[in-house]
Amino acid sequence: MDRIRRAVEGPSPVPQARGAMAKLSFIPWNPDWETGVPKIDREHRAMLAMLEGLVKALAEGRETREIRSAVSMLTHYIQDHFLAEEALMAASGYPDLGRHRGAHDGLRDRLARIVLHGRSEPRALPTELVGFLIGWFQEHFSGEDRRMADHLRTLAPPPSP
Ligand SMILES: [Fe+2]
Repeated sequence: MDRIRRAVEGPSPVPQARGAMAKLSFIPWNPDWETGVPKIDREHRAMLAMLEGLVKALAEGRETREIRSAVSMLTHYIQDHFLAEEALMAASGYPDLGRHRGAHDGLRDRLARIVLHGRSEPRALPTELVGFLIGWFQEHFSGEDRRMADHLRTLAPPPSP
C-alpha cells in the first residue's frame, strides 16, 4: 500500500516543464481531466504545457532546431509517462491494464507513423502531431486515465487532514 502511495504521489520527471505549466492558457485545464492522483495529474499538465509550448513555437515561426527539440521532448515525455502509468497499474493489480495499455499502444503506433512521415515532410510533423494529440489527450485523460485513477485511489486514498 505504501509503495502505491509513494508511487502515486511521487516526483515527476522533467522539471523544466513547470515554468511552462504556470503559463498554460492555450489549453485550459478541464476539471474532467483531474484524476485525483497527484503524480498523474502533474504529468498530464506537463504534457499539455509542452504541447502548448510547441504550438507557440510554431506560431512564432521559431527555428526548425527548436521545434524539433520541442517535439522530441514531448514524445519522450509521453513514452515515459505511459511506462509509469503501466507500472502503476501492474503494481496495483488493475484489472483493465490490458485495455489501457492497448490505448497507449495505439498512440505509440500513431506517434511512430507521424514521426516516420515527418522524415519526408518535416514541416508537416509538428502540426500533425499537435492536431492529433490535442484530441487524444482529452479523450484519454477523461476516460481510461480516470478509470485507472479511480482504482488507484481506492488502494491509496489521500491522507485525511
Ligand atoms: Fe493512460
